[in-house]
Amino acid sequence: MRSVKIAVFASGRGSNYEAIYEAIQAKRLDATVVAVVCDKPEAQVIQTAMAHGIKVLSIVPNTYTNKKAYEQAILTFLHEQQVEFIVLAGYMRLIGETLLQAFPRRIVNIHPSLLPYFKGKDAIGQAIVANAKVTGVTVHYVDEGMDTGEIIAQEGLMLNPTWNRETIERYVHRIEHQLYPETLQKIFRKLGKIG
Ligand code: GRF
Repeated sequence: MRSVKIAVFASGRGSNYEAIYEAIQAKRLDATVVAVVCDKPEAQVIQTAMAHGIKVLSIVPNTYTNKKAYEQAILTFLHEQQVEFIVLAGYMRLIGETLLQAFPRRIVNIHPSLLPYFKGKDAIGQAIVANAKVTGVTVHYVDEGMDTGEIIAQEGLMLNPTWNRETIERYVHRIEHQLYPETLQKIFRKLGKIG
């Protein structure tokens, strides 16, 4: 069984990174995290990935002249690690054409809503403000838009009106942590990379 070399991009806590890492350890996902890319030097995910012995690129966008130069630096690092597939997990930045062209249909994202509803930042907050009865989680391919790429998998969550934001977040994360590794495994099988 071949293991797909993936890079996880994250900007925050990294609970989805951890779920992916654990799925790999448990042999539920035939992949190897060969790199983590993080644009926020203070993000928790950096410490977590380093403790796992993963190569981390901590990179600050505004130290580059433009997005192209920033993504070119990331690309060089990804090539060095022989990355085949990019997994966005709470990476709070739009992917530009440099990375999109280098990884056609090889970049996916997870978003905490049932797209196309509640695109963009704070999707859970948007659902609360809208008084939504249902929200959920979407895994999708990444294109140049904000959460607009082709949908791969979705799972809904009925919202109990008594739940506060923290509770909703807990349920959303629970779904994400299962759905993301599962969906990645299906993608890799379809690609004929494994199995
Ligand atoms: C997740 O809810 C994901 O859907 C969104 O950002 C959040 C990241 O959480 N894109 P974590 O950093 O993986 O804990």
